[in-house]
Amino acid sequence: MPSPTHPKPETQNIASLLKEGRTFPPSPEFVANAKVQGMEGYKALYEEAKSNPDAFWAKQAGELQWIKPFEKVLTWNEPHARWFEGGTLNASINCVDRHLKGPNRNKAAIIWEGEPGDSRVLTYQMLHREVCQFANGLKLLGMKSGDRATIYMPLIPEAVVAMLACARLGIVHSVVFGGFSAEAVAERTKDAGATLVITADGGYRRGKSIPLKANVDDALNRCPDVAKCVVYKRTGEPVQMKPSRDIWWHDLVQGVEAHCEPAAMESEDPLFILYTSGSTGKPKGILHTTAGYLLGASYSHRMVFDLRDDDVYWCTADIGWITGHSYVVYGPLCNGSTLMLYEGAPDFPAKDRFWEIIAKYGVSVFYTAPTAIRAFIKWGDELPAKHDLSSLRLLGTVGEPINPEAWIWFHEKIGKGRCPIVDTWWQTETGAIMIAPLPGAVPTKPGSATLPLPGIIAEVVDKKGNPVGDNEGGYLVISRPWPSMLRTIFNDDARYRSAYWETVPNVYFTADGARRDQDGYLWIMGRVDDVLNVAGHRLSTMEVESALVNHPSVAEAAAVGRPDEIKGEGIVVFVTLKQGKIADDKLKQALREHVSKEIGALARPDEVRFAESLPKTRSGKIMRRLLRDIASGNQTTGDTTTLEDLSVLAKLRDDEE
Ligand code: PRX
Repeated sequence: MPSPTHPKPETQNIASLLKEGRTFPPSPEFVANAKVQGMEGYKALYEEAKSNPDAFWAKQAGELQWIKPFEKVLTWNEPHARWFEGGTLNASINCVDRHLKGPNRNKAAIIWEGEPGDSRVLTYQMLHREVCQFANGLKLLGMKSGDRATIYMPLIPEAVVAMLACARLGIVHSVVFGGFSAEAVAERTKDAGATLVITADGGYRRGKSIPLKANVDDALNRCPDVAKCVVYKRTGEPVQMKPSRDIWWHDLVQGVEAHCEPAAMESEDPLFILYTSGSTGKPKGILHTTAGYLLGASYSHRMVFDLRDDDVYWCTADIGWITGHSYVVYGPLCNGSTLMLYEGAPDFPAKDRFWEIIAKYGVSVFYTAPTAIRAFIKWGDELPAKHDLSSLRLLGTVGEPINPEAWIWFHEKIGKGRCPIVDTWWQTETGAIMIAPLPGAVPTKPGSATLPLPGIIAEVVDKKGNPVGDNEGGYLVISRPWPSMLRTIFNDDARYRSAYWETVPNVYFTADGARRDQDGYLWIMGRVDDVLNVAGHRLSTMEVESALVNHPSVAEAAAVGRPDEIKGEGIVVFVTLKQGKIADDKLKQALREHVSKEIGALARPDEVRFAESLPKTRSGKIMRRLLRDIASGNQTTGDTTTLEDLSVLAKLRDDEE
C-alpha cells in the first residue's frame, strides 16, 4: 500500500511551481480551425458531460462502429464498472475495416522508418490485408478468443499488426516492452497465462541489434504453458528455432487468405493486459476491456490533438507502454489518422534524428516525453534549427511533470512560438488522457496539465476525501467512473480494490499528489507512493530491491529516487552485504548490471552505496525519507568511499519518520 501519510511532493516543489505565472492562449488562427473553440466552448462541453454523463458518453460511443448497439451506458458497483452492456464490436474493425469504405482506404495508416534508414508505408487497405493474414495464421496455430498472447517486438509495423490481429480474434494481448529482460518476459507471460509469444529475431537500437528471440528462449525455459512462438525476421541475425514450438512469421502467413472474419466481442470482453509497477510486489496486470477503452482512446485522441484529416501524427512512445497502446495504435487508427512510427533511438546516427524525421515526412503533431525534451536541450539548439519544422502545428508531452524551462524551450525552439503544447496527465490504469488542455480552447500554463477533459471529474482531496483549498497540496482522485478505466488487476481483484479504492473513500485514488490553482488548473506534483518515475516510466523501488537481494552478495537493499536533470528521477540503492563479501567498485558495477539484467536497462541504478546496516525506525521500517535525503545530497554521511554508517543519522531522525 502507498504510504499516504508521507507524500513525496515537497513544499519546495509547490513553491517553485507557484512562481510560474505565464499563460499562453492559443492563437486566433488555431482557434478558428479548432474542434472546440475558446474557453466558452470547453465550459459548455464540460457542463454538458457533467450534467448528464450517460447521455454524453452514449453520444461519444456513437462514433465507434458497433456490430450490435449497446443497451445500457454504465452499471456501477464500486469498484467494478461495466460500460455499454449489450453491445458487440471489434477493435480491429474500428481501427482498420471501417476505413476501407471511402477516402481513407488508400490513406497512409502507418509511415514507418527503421533505425538503419529503411522505410515503409502501409495504407489502411494494406494494413487490413496484413492484419487478416496474420490473424488467419494465429488461427492455424489454434489460438482462439479469450487466449492470451505475449507480444515482445521492436517498433515495426508488424508489432501493430500483431496487436490488431489478436484483437480481431478476441485474443488478449500483453505487450512487453522490448527493453525489458528475459526475466520480465517470463514473469509477465506466466502471470497472464499466455500460450503464445510473438517476437522478432531482434530490433535495432543505437546501431546494435537487441536479441529479442534469445531473450524469449531464455524466458520460455520458465514458461511451460507457451506452446508456440512466432518470430518475425527483422535483423536477419542467426537465432535458435525450436522446431516444435517456433515458427517464422513469413512461413505462417505464406499462402494464407487475406480475409478474416472478425469476432463479435462483448463491450466488456478484455482487449489487453498491460503490466505496470505498483508500490509493492510484482508488476500489476492492468486489464482493459474493448468498448470503453476504445472509446476513451479515440475520443481523447480526437479532442486533445484536435485531429485533422491531413495530420501526420507522431507519438514517440514504444508500444510496450500504455502511451503506445492508446496513442500509437488504438486511438489514432480508430480515428483514421496517419501515424508516424520510428524504430530506433533519437540520437542515432546523430542527435537530430527526430528533427530529420519531422522534416522528411511533414509531421504535424508531435507527442513526446519531458525527459526527451531535456535531452534535446542538452544536445543544443543548433540541431533543431538545422531542419525545417514548419509542418508542426501542435506539440504534446506525457509521462511526468514538465519543468517550465523545458516547456518554454519546446514552445520556442520546436514550436517556434506557434504551436500549442498539450501537457497530458494520465496513467496505465486510466487508459486514456484525463487532464489536458483542449488546444483551441484552454490557455496553457507551463508545467500544468490544465483542466480535466469533458466527462472526467478530477479532484484534489485530503485523506478523508474532503476537497483541499486552492493551491494546497492533496491527493489527485477521480470521482466518477470513466469508460477507459481499468476493470481490475488480472488475477488479483483484491489488489485492485486495495490499491485504487480503499485509500480515499468512494473515489479512484491515482497515487499522485496535485494542487489546483485559483483558476482551477491542476498541477501534478508526482507520486505519493514508492513508485519511481524514471525517464517517464514507472518502476517500483520494490522491484529494484528484490532484484538486488537475488544477488549472492547482497543481504538487504533499499532503492530510492533522486532528482535527475534528464531522467526526472534516477535510482540510488543502499546495500548491505552478506558476511565476508567485499564492498568495492567491481561489486558496485556488478550490482548495476545485475539489476539491468533482471529488469531491463531502464532500472539500472545510477549509484550503488554500501552501508553497515540500513537505517530503520524503532518499528523496523526502512527510513526511506532519510535515504532519499542522503541520496539527493541534502544530508551527508561523511565518508562514502567505504561502508557508510547510517545509524547516527537514523537515530537523529527516528522520531520524524
Ligand atoms: O505520476 C504520474 C505520471 O506518470 C504516472 C503514470 O505512469 P504510467 O502508468 O507509466 O503512464 C505514463 C503515461 C500515461 C502518473 O501517475 N504522469 C503521467 N503523465 C503526467 C504525469 N505527471 C505529470 N504530468 C503529466 N502530464
